[in-house]
Amino acid sequence: MIKILLFGATGAAGGSVLRAALASPHVREVRAIVRRPLELAHEKLRVLIHRDYLDYGAVEAAFAGVDACLWCLGISVRQVSGEAEYRTITHDYALAAAQTLRRQSPGAAFHFVSGQGTRLDSRMMWSRVKAETERDLIDLAGAVCWRPAFIDGEDSANSPRLYQALRPAFRLLRGFRGLYVAGEDIGRAMIQATRDGERGRIIENAEIRRIADESRR
Ligand SMILES: NC(=O)c1ccc[n+]([C@@H]2O[C@H](COP(=O)([O-])OP(=O)(O)OC[C@H]3O[C@@H](n4cnc5c(N)ncnc54)[C@H](OP(=O)(O)O)[C@@H]3O)[C@@H](O)[C@H]2O)c1
Repeated sequence: MIKILLFGATGAAGGSVLRAALASPHVREVRAIVRRPLELAHEKLRVLIHRDYLDYGAVEAAFAGVDACLWCLGISVRQVSGEAEYRTITHDYALAAAQTLRRQSPGAAFHFVSGQGTRLDSRMMWSRVKAETERDLIDLAGAVCWRPAFIDGEDSANSPRLYQALRPAFRLLRGFRGLYVAGEDIGRAMIQATRDGERGRIIENAEIRRIADESRR
């Protein structure tokens, strides 16, 4: 039975990962660090409201005694003012959490939700910043980096209206294992990878689905 620290639980990916974790017989406790309250209540769930994602001093105790940190916090490049803000949220917030995790739970796994198309030499800023984040998290914490394609996740306050409108169309991609993943399957796969002791790997969309399918057997 594992204990999980979760970031991004109010989002599309994180909300689905939270549901998968709460439903899993392998998960004993989920500690969700969020900046606004969650609507969900559950006996396994502890919610901690936190504002400063570069300094986790106020919630440091929540990092102790966990088996994995599931990092689903993130932002679309369309929702930031430029590279500096995108880098702070994508890279610096995650690295600060990984450093705190290493201090408080040195044996724990760090799972980072990245994205399909992430490349160090990409011409797209978001892709480079995500790739640098993956590299630095793997160096620092042996992180496992997940590269989902379209995530069919929870409704999120931040999802652009167009994205929500297109969701039924995206669902037509379900049969293409490289292009679509159910949000809860990311959670199932992360829980399975934690139980298997995975470290220092990049996992593309089709493999996320394979691990989730195997975890159901
Ligand atoms: N959705 C997809 O199809 C998809 C596909 C591939 C990769 N991804 C990646 O998955 C990650 C999560 O995406 P998503 O679709 O779940 O996004 P989302 O629905 O917008 O959720 C983002 C989460 O991050 C939190 N967050 C964002 N900015 C923050 C900040 N400055 N300080 C503290 N918390 C912050 C949000 O908190 P609040 O609710 O408080 O704003 C929310 O919990 C991103 O890195 C994204 O690139 C998504």
